[in-house]
Amino acid sequence: MARILTGIQSSGRPHLGNILGAIAPAIELSKDPKNESFFFIADLHSLTSLKDGGERRAFVRAIAATWLAFGFDYKKNVFWRQSRVQEHTELAWYLSCFTPFPMLANATSFKEKSEKLADVNAGLFTYPVLQAADILLYNANIIPVGKDQKQHLEMTKDIASRFNQLAGEDILVLPEPQIDERIMTIPGLDGQKMSKSYHNYIDIFLPENELKKVIKKIVSDSTPLEEPKDPDTDITFKLYSLIASPTEIETMRTNYLNGGYGYGHAKQALLECMLEKFAEPRRIFNYYMENDPELELILAEGEEKARAIAQETIVKVRKVLGFNS
Ligand code: TRP
Repeated sequence: MARILTGIQSSGRPHLGNILGAIAPAIELSKDPKNESFFFIADLHSLTSLKDGGERRAFVRAIAATWLAFGFDYKKNVFWRQSRVQEHTELAWYLSCFTPFPMLANATSFKEKSEKLADVNAGLFTYPVLQAADILLYNANIIPVGKDQKQHLEMTKDIASRFNQLAGEDILVLPEPQIDERIMTIPGLDGQKMSKSYHNYIDIFLPENELKKVIKKIVSDSTPLEEPKDPDTDITFKLYSLIASPTEIETMRTNYLNGGYGYGHAKQALLECMLEKFAEPRRIFNYYMENDPELELILAEGEEKARAIAQETIVKVRKVLGFNS
């Protein structure tokens, strides 16, 4: 039995890139009866960038509703808000004392942002330590993440080994990253990686008329309608290929190559495909967004399960460090 764990930062509403890149594949993995899945909302991590409490709360709910909308079975698995299980912050402090300064200073995620040093806070600097705590609290074996998280997982293993060395036994379980190569290739409206920070994302839960406006913004070249077009370099086609069925994709490919088919047609087909493929998730998402108490109950149930496991680890760690009674 493999224990799979992953977290999603609550710094925005989940967009198509998050859904196709992280959420849907993680839910697929969780369906295997041999796996046990631990999925959480990394709301503490979001504080490194987002300070507004009202916004955070709204994003947390949208993320929870998205997981449920895409069929995550919260009864079989464990689903919680990081901030509600205090063992995350406690373990993060212990682990920070096992983390060499240069390791954090070399983290790409920090270096990228440290160009604007005035915006960097200590939380951003120690971000990977909290992430290590998230993983190690639950003895997780497999961590499905994007390539950009690989370094954080290496740091997690390194920190865990340092702790285990002190303990003289393997108290913390070293996890394995499971990198999904597709994660980096989901293009946004402008062809760059789809990301909230690039403002090039598609929110699939928007009302139809607004979703249509967003899809219209997908960048295309200026090939006239009558002329043949290259599907392999076009962003609309790439997005369509990620959602549509093999026959639908072949039909669109032929349309591009034949000419007489404009980018406007392709965008309309993409919109229709999204509305059809995501009809059920859109319905469930809206249901939970309008039924806050029900969502709260589901999260609270998950938090109880998560806490029980986290406490077992914390007790062992406290003992090693002499914080036990
Ligand atoms: N840092 C991850 C991201 O930005 C989110 C995250 C926090 C995470 N804790 C985690 C992912 C633990 C996997 C495991 O995508």
